[in-house]
Amino acid sequence: MTDTLQIDIHQIEKSRIDSVDFDNLVFGRSFADHMLMVDFKDGEWQTPQILPYGPISYSPAMMSLHYGQAIFEGMKAYKNAAGEILVFRPEENWKRLNKSAVRMCIPEIPEDIFMEGLSQLLRLDAEWIPAKEGCSMYIRPFMFSTDEYVGVSPSKTYKFMIFNCPVGSYYSKPLRVRVETQYIRAAHGGVGFSKNAGNYGGSLYPTKLAMDAGYDQIIWTDAATHTFVEEAGTMNLLFVIDGALVTAPTGDTILDGITRKSVLQVAKEWRMKIEERQLSVQELVEGIKAGKVTEAFGAGTAAVIAPIATIGFEGVDYQLPERAEDAFSKRVFEEINDTRLGKKADTRGWVMKI
Ligand code: COI
Repeated sequence: MTDTLQIDIHQIEKSRIDSVDFDNLVFGRSFADHMLMVDFKDGEWQTPQILPYGPISYSPAMMSLHYGQAIFEGMKAYKNAAGEILVFRPEENWKRLNKSAVRMCIPEIPEDIFMEGLSQLLRLDAEWIPAKEGCSMYIRPFMFSTDEYVGVSPSKTYKFMIFNCPVGSYYSKPLRVRVETQYIRAAHGGVGFSKNAGNYGGSLYPTKLAMDAGYDQIIWTDAATHTFVEEAGTMNLLFVIDGALVTAPTGDTILDGITRKSVLQVAKEWRMKIEERQLSVQELVEGIKAGKVTEAFGAGTAAVIAPIATIGFEGVDYQLPERAEDAFSKRVFEEINDTRLGKKADTRGWVMKI
């Protein structure tokens, strides 16, 4: 990619990198030296800036704090053996960010600002991309409204920003998840498909209740009947049932996950039977009891492929079998991991080299 876009760069004087323990990275707690910041005002996106990572100050009346025009993305960068920077499917994140933007009345971000801003930011903070197996640079693009105004309407000004975090794994062990049958994440016609900050805010209380009961996460069910499995909020859900890969169709209540999409593509290439269909909780628990459900896992950028060990439903814990050596979720993880690390030829055009 050529850098044709003008970006004003203000570099840090001294890197903070020595203060970070790269052998013990905790997800989301360390932030690389620089951030990208672009203002939208007078109906257009202004010249992007790269600045030292740090606090920004705003009016207490900033609209996004009150009316929730705030959306984000998550993606990851790696270094290959030659030390080149590889980003996994950033175009998909750019497209999805703009889908979220449209739904939330936020102006779309042009591709050149997103891609070139990202490229220049990563080049500047290349030292921060962890080399250790299982670690990566988690990239957080986001947009939010900035008008100082008390009144419910779309803001006239916004910011698009990106910062980077060197991270280890999001989940460190197979998960215990509980099927949620009281609270809901998304209803038809709502904002469930968008990566909108409020979706995550609304999930905190029911997730806390599940955590208090000894679970790691919840499985959201459909808002109307609580009958069908939807997603887990931090990740999409996939199951291997009778040898077929089963996952809920994304529609307007479920995030169109890029890891989910990648898993389905690999499964299709491997000629595995794929069923994008409604899966009832009843079918799931009956399937586990009958030994038909051999794998359950989450798929997401932060989580990557997160095996599920236990599913709690109506007070009963259903145990998934131990993952076999040749389990699909293991093999598909290796396929995606080797591709994004550049260990394997990128036959699908998934990797952007910077
Ligand atoms: C991601 O997977 O990138 C997300 O945004 C989910 C969140 C758990 C960090």
